[in-house]
Amino acid sequence: MSAEMPLSGLSAAVLEAFRADGVLSRADPGFRPRAGQTQMAQAVAETVEQGGSLVVEAGTGVGKTFAYLVPALLSGERVLISTATKALQDQLFARDLPRLASAFGLPVKLALLKGRASYLCPYRLDLARREALLPDRATVSLLAKVERWAQGTRTGDLAELPGLDERSPLLPFITSTRENCLGSECDHYRDCPVMQARKQALAADIVVINHHLFFADLAVRETGMAELLPSVRVVVFDEAHQLNETGVQFLGHQLGTTQLLELARDALATGLTLAQGLADWQGLSSALELAARDFRLLFARAGRSARLAWSGELPEGLDAAGWQECLDRVRTAAEQLEAGLDLVVETAPDFVRLQERVLEIQQRLKAFQAPAAVGHVRWVEVGAQVRLLEAPLDIAETVRARLLDAQTPEDNPLPRSWVFTSATLGDDEQLRWFTEPCGLESARVLQVSSPFDYPRQAVLFVPRDMVVPSDSQHSAQVGGLATRIARVLGGRTLVLTTTLRALQSIGEQLQQAFAEDAQVEVLVQGQGSKRELMERFRQGEVGGRGCVLVASATFWEGFDVPGDALQAVVIDKLPFPPPNDPVVQARSERLTQQGRSPFKDYFLPEAAVSLKQGAGRLIRRETDRGVLVVCDPRLSTTGYGRRLMSALPPMAKVSSEAVLLEGLARLTTASTKAS
Ligand SMILES: Nc1ncnc2c1ncn2[C@@H]1O[C@H](COP(=O)(O)OP(=O)(O)OP(=O)(O)O)[C@@H](O)[C@H]1O
Ligand SMILES: [Mg+2]
Repeated sequence: MSAEMPLSGLSAAVLEAFRADGVLSRADPGFRPRAGQTQMAQAVAETVEQGGSLVVEAGTGVGKTFAYLVPALLSGERVLISTATKALQDQLFARDLPRLASAFGLPVKLALLKGRASYLCPYRLDLARREALLPDRATVSLLAKVERWAQGTRTGDLAELPGLDERSPLLPFITSTRENCLGSECDHYRDCPVMQARKQALAADIVVINHHLFFADLAVRETGMAELLPSVRVVVFDEAHQLNETGVQFLGHQLGTTQLLELARDALATGLTLAQGLADWQGLSSALELAARDFRLLFARAGRSARLAWSGELPEGLDAAGWQECLDRVRTAAEQLEAGLDLVVETAPDFVRLQERVLEIQQRLKAFQAPAAVGHVRWVEVGAQVRLLEAPLDIAETVRARLLDAQTPEDNPLPRSWVFTSATLGDDEQLRWFTEPCGLESARVLQVSSPFDYPRQAVLFVPRDMVVPSDSQHSAQVGGLATRIARVLGGRTLVLTTTLRALQSIGEQLQQAFAEDAQVEVLVQGQGSKRELMERFRQGEVGGRGCVLVASATFWEGFDVPGDALQAVVIDKLPFPPPNDPVVQARSERLTQQGRSPFKDYFLPEAAVSLKQGAGRLIRRETDRGVLVVCDPRLSTTGYGRRLMSALPPMAKVSSEAVLLEGLARLTTASTKAS
C-alpha cells in the first residue's frame, strides 16, 4: 500500500491503538510501541479490509498476538483464529482476548472450540460409572474426581480439571469419538459439552480453534466447523509454521485397528439391545475383532512404537502372502457384518450409522490395496493400535483449492482474508520454506524486525565439554547443569527437551535434586494439565518458591512468560526431524530426486525453525534478561552448527559455566532489587 493513500477507518483505528498514548498503552503501563508490531497490525488491517492472503514473519516475542487480535476485534467482522495447540488456545482465550476486549470496552462474544476429545461426554461418563471396565484403582478414583467436577463445570472442557494428565487411561471412557457419538439420538444431546461449544462458536464474534480441528474438519466435516467456516470472512492462523505438518496428517486417509475394534464392540452392543436374535451379533462381532487382533499381531515384531515405511505394495518387513491374508480376513469380516446389518437396517438409525462405518472401512481397505496416489506417502504407525496412513507430502493443493479459491461468505461482498503468521517461516525473503508447501506463493509477504536488544538482553551458552546427545550420559549432564542453574536463579528455568525419554529422565533428576529444597518447585509436563503448568510457571515466585518447568513439544512454541518468572531456557539438543520417520524419509527422497540436498534444504531449516522457537521463550519484554543454554556441542563445533547459530538472534556469548553462573547470580540480585 503506498504511503499517500489515505488510511481507511480500520487501519487508522488500529494505528491509533498502538500509539504511545493509545488504548493499549493506557490499559497496560508496560506497553511500549514496537515498530514491527505496529507494522504487522497495519498489514493485517489492510488484509482484513481488502481480502486476500498475507504471510507475516515476526520474531518471537514481538507481540504478534496483539498485532492480529486488535484488527480482528476492531473490524467488527466474525473472525476465526487458529493456533497450533490446545494450550495456546487457552492462553489466547483465557488471557489475551479478554484483556484486549476490556481495554477497548468492546462487548464482543468470544468462543473456544476444541476437538471432541477435549470435552467430557456425559453419556459415556454414565456408562463408565455403570460398566466398571476401568483398568485399575487409580483410574476409578480419578473417575470419582471427574464426576464431582462434572457437576459444576460450565464448559465440560477437560483442560479445566486440575491434575488430569492428557495421557490418562480414563480419557477414552469419558470422551466420545465421531464413531461412538450418538448425535441427536443421545439423551444428553441438549447438555452435551461438544454441542454447547459448537453452538457458542456459531454465535460468537471471535472463535479460537486449533490447526488440528481446522484440518480434521476439512477432511471429515464433523467438528462443527463445516457450519462455521462459511459464515466467517476473516481467518488468522497463528503458529502457521505448523500448518503443513498438521494438515498432512488429516488430508490423507487411514485405517486403524481401534476403528475395527470399536465397530465390533458397538455392533455387538447395538445388535443385542435393538435386534437380538435377528443376526448372530456375537459371531459377526468376534470375527471382526479377531481379524483386527491378527492385524495388530502382524506388526508385533515392530515393537511397541514405530513408524514403518511402505515398500512397493506393502509395509516393509512383511511378506506379501501374510499381508494379503490379513487384509482378506478383515474384508471378509466386514462383508459379513454388513450383510447382518442389512437385515435390520430399517429398524433403527443406529444400524444406518453402523453400516456407514462398515462401508467406510471397506473403502479404505480397497484404497490401501491399490497403489498410493502420486505425491502421497504411505506408512504404518505401530503403537497401542496399528494404523495404516496415506497423506500428501504437503498441503499446497488443498490450501489453493479449498481455502484460497473457495467462495466467499454469501452475505459478504468482500473476498475472504487469510492471515498466516509465525516467528519462523523460512530464511529467504519470499519465506519459501513456508509458502511453497502451503500453496501461498502468491500471498503478500511481510517480515518485521524485533524490538529487542538481544546482545544486551540475552546470553548464549553452549557447554563445550558436554558429551554429544547420542551419548547415554547426555540427559544426566543436561539435568545436572539445569540443576546448577536453577539453584542460582531460585527456579525461573524452563528446560525444553526433544524427546519424551529425555523429558522423563531430566524431570526425575530435577525433582530429586530439589526434593528437599523449599525454594524451588519442579514441574514436569504430564504431571497436571498444560494449562495448570503454564499458569503456575508464569506466576513465578509463590510463597518464596520459584519454579522450574521441564517440558517438550508444545512448550517450545508460543508459550509466553514475560518478566522474571523465566530467566533461563535450557535446550537439550538440536531439534532435527527424526531421520527414520517415513514421512521425513519420503520428503528427503523427493528432494534427492529434485537434485536438492535433504540435509541442507530440509533437516537444517526444520531444526532452525524449532530452535528459534524454543530460544524465543526467553525474551518477551524490553526489560527481560536471560540466558539460553543449548546442551549440544555440535552447535559450536560443526559447520552446520554455525549456520544454525546464525539463525538465532544475536545474543552475547559466554564460554564457561563459571562465568554463566556468576552472571546469573548478578541477574537475580538485579531482579530482586527491581521488584
Ligand atoms: N507493545 C508492547 N509493549 C510491551 N509488551 C508487549 C507489547 N506487545 C505485546 N507485549 C507483550 O509481549 C509478550 C509477547 O507477546 P506475544 O506473545 O504476542 O509474542 P509473539 O510475537 O506471539 O511471540 P511467539 O512467536 O513466541 O508466540 C506478551 O507478554 C505481550 O503481552
Ligand atoms: Mg505467539
